[in-house]
Amino acid sequence: MSGVTRNPNFAKLAGGYLFPEIGRRRNAYLAANPDMASRIISLGIGDTTLPIPEHILGGLVTSASKLGTKEGYSGYGAEQGMGSLRAKIADKLYGGLIKDSEVFVSDGAKCDIMRIQQVFGSDVTTAVQVSEVNIRIKYYTHTLAILFTSLQLNLLSLTNFVKTISCQDPSYPVYVDTSVMMGQTGNINPDTKQYENIVYMPCTAENDFFPDIENIPRADIVYFCSPNNPTGAAATKEQLELLVKVCKERGSILVFDAAYAPFIRSPGVPKSIFEIEGAREVAIECNSFSKYAGFTGVRLGWVVVPDELSFADGSKVRDDFNRVMTTAFNGASNIVQGGGLACLDDEGLAEIDNLIDYYMENAKLLKDAMTSIGYSVYGGTDAPYVFVKLPDGKGSWDAFTEILEKAQVVTIPGAGFGPGGDGYLRLSAFAPRDTVIEACDRLKKTMVLPVAV
Ligand SMILES: Cc1ncc(COP(=O)(O)O)c(C=O)c1O
Repeated sequence: MSGVTRNPNFAKLAGGYLFPEIGRRRNAYLAANPDMASRIISLGIGDTTLPIPEHILGGLVTSASKLGTKEGYSGYGAEQGMGSLRAKIADKLYGGLIKDSEVFVSDGAKCDIMRIQQVFGSDVTTAVQVSEVNIRIKYYTHTLAILFTSLQLNLLSLTNFVKTISCQDPSYPVYVDTSVMMGQTGNINPDTKQYENIVYMPCTAENDFFPDIENIPRADIVYFCSPNNPTGAAATKEQLELLVKVCKERGSILVFDAAYAPFIRSPGVPKSIFEIEGAREVAIECNSFSKYAGFTGVRLGWVVVPDELSFADGSKVRDDFNRVMTTAFNGASNIVQGGGLACLDDEGLAEIDNLIDYYMENAKLLKDAMTSIGYSVYGGTDAPYVFVKLPDGKGSWDAFTEILEKAQVVTIPGAGFGPGGDGYLRLSAFAPRDTVIEACDRLKKTMVLPVAV
């Protein structure tokens, strides 16, 4: 055992991260039923399955080959990304709504969310002061350190948190889990399954998956994802206008996750928060090539931090984000950025459209199959996720287990995305077409509802 005190924020985390937990349950099922291994179909984690198309692949290959030549070799690049890629993102994906200098290219949106959290910090003043005492005492004796660790934990639960965060419930688990790691929250309430100091914004079928934002308490940082993972709901222009207006009136910063923007097919639905007037003063946007171009393993994303966005003391959020990127990140891979440039050529954009058409056809098949056996189904029109309402009283982990055992199909329980997701299941449309067809067939045979919900 070392003499180092565990970061108490990690002890607050309820269980492991969602997707490894799904894998663990699937493996446990297969260990008990090894003959089912070849039957398993995954509609679980939102991981792309189609190969990277030719033009985009060419971009990756060319930039990799250049590294083998004297003239083409490059080492460390700018931490904010290649100028040419930043300019192309601003031009092709934002049509001039943002400036090149506001784009920070990265290794993906998940890591960016943690880096954004680092900019905000924990602001848990009391806890930080107690930690300092703890470190000094620990210097003298290990036993006293342990005593003070428990004192620190007790004081933490009495702490007045000065910074609050808010997120959709259900939502991509990274917003909540990174907030817990950063020390922005209290403990989880075992009854409500909610962390203290997080303002949960319920988004379910009852409110058409958009929160009653004006009647929800203020938070400093508001996380909002559209199209949403897991519900598949894409907020309309009017809804986003209201969101921006409320954040502006309350002096909140909006962190807008647009990782599924290219899946939007409904006319008039914004693909970026910067399509909304006034958003430049309130919002940061994170985005990713993962789902655009099958780059989940390649790793490339970006964050837009507009110049106008500032903290209460007038300092620019952009400057602090730049400080994090230059200190704790060393730039996205030069090979991968070559792939990103190819994505944004006309040929690359056309290839992305084809990939997305394929996944959206899968979503339609899943949606039609579940509707045909009596379920109410949401999402799947502007997002690669189909969100299925379960019969009243049916827990989503129970439904997950039942479908795994009866149909050998892996899904994701809505409760894994927050307490508001219980009673729903998420089906991912990223599986290969033949397996989607087979999964639809098995679900239709095994999951028929006696009464439609
Ligand atoms: C809403 C949302 N944001 C971000 C990410 C992570 O993206 P990346 O692969 O760029 O880390 C995901 C991945 O599933 C996601 O669902």
